[in-house]
Amino acid sequence: MQPSDEGWIKLNTNECPYPPSPRVVAAVVDEVGIEGASLRRYPSPTSAPLREQIACIQGVSVEQVIVGNGSDDILNLLVRVFGGPEVATGLTLPSYSLYPVLVAIQDGGTEMIEFDRSMRLPVARIASSGATAFFLTSPNAPTGVGFTNVELEAVLREFPGILVVDEAYAPFAEENAVPLLKAHRNLVVVRTLSKAHALAGIRVGYALADAETIGLLDRVRDSYNVNRLSQVAAAAALGDASYYDAIIGKIKRTRDHWAQEWAKRDWFVYRSSANFLFVEPRRAGGESGPAVAQSLFEYFTMRKILVRTFLSHALTASFLRISVGTDDEMFAVDEAIQAWLTNAP
Ligand SMILES: Cc1ncc(COP(=O)(O)O)c(C=O)c1O
Repeated sequence: MQPSDEGWIKLNTNECPYPPSPRVVAAVVDEVGIEGASLRRYPSPTSAPLREQIACIQGVSVEQVIVGNGSDDILNLLVRVFGGPEVATGLTLPSYSLYPVLVAIQDGGTEMIEFDRSMRLPVARIASSGATAFFLTSPNAPTGVGFTNVELEAVLREFPGILVVDEAYAPFAEENAVPLLKAHRNLVVVRTLSKAHALAGIRVGYALADAETIGLLDRVRDSYNVNRLSQVAAAAALGDASYYDAIIGKIKRTRDHWAQEWAKRDWFVYRSSANFLFVEPRRAGGESGPAVAQSLFEYFTMRKILVRTFLSHALTASFLRISVGTDDEMFAVDEAIQAWLTNAP
């Protein structure tokens, strides 16, 4: 949900609580130019300068990079190329809710593999899923659990199809899959600037993969899929690593602090490698479950605090996903929890 009125503490879509690097605003203003001079010109169709910059940062060749209008655009290209009515696309449950929507638009079949409560990666089941492409979110959404490169390599060795590792939250994790690209031609790593880089509004994401795979994606990409201002904003953000190291560090410290605090209330909190916490609230009497999660969700909403529920599945229904906010926002969340524990029936 994206509320249209003011005054919400918005912790439901894992946006960054801090502004983007000041260099981003300066670069956009500069690009617009006097009286919007640059705006009458089409942008680089392949986002060429940005693509080169990403290749350089990630240590891959330019041919191994494609830039999209948000990572949702990239995910859509992947499903269009590798999904479809004749084949099965592999998904886990839970994971990012857009994947099955994109597969359904292409009339594709899905092969759904459920996690158990441990949320460990079911390597053998993925390997034998029969899917042509398998989508994994690492760190996982909505749990925040990160998979190790040892686990991902085991999948890459045993799974004969394309493995898409959606790393929307990787900047908050200990490890990422980029180093595995060298040895595994069936790996696609997807990234976004919407989370750690505080640029959800400009819509830039990208994928790294073998040049042949990128070539296939490029054939179905819209010719001018990333606008001129987004290209320069993303380039400015990626050029300011020290700014982002500082805010990512702050978000991780805030995350770990509140994970500990809520665990002290005897709430189950998955160990998060992302910028959100997946928590199973308990009432003062110790009760947990979907009705308890819903009660706290409604209490938060009454106080204009927006978080996410995942009521459609037994594994997730008793949990709330709370994006990591500023210190003030997190204190407001904790105060609401305290009031709910005292007052909620
Ligand atoms: C796992 C995952 N992948 C991709 C996205 C989409 O990101 P973008 O804003 O780049 O389209 C999200 C957004 O919430 C996400 O959680």
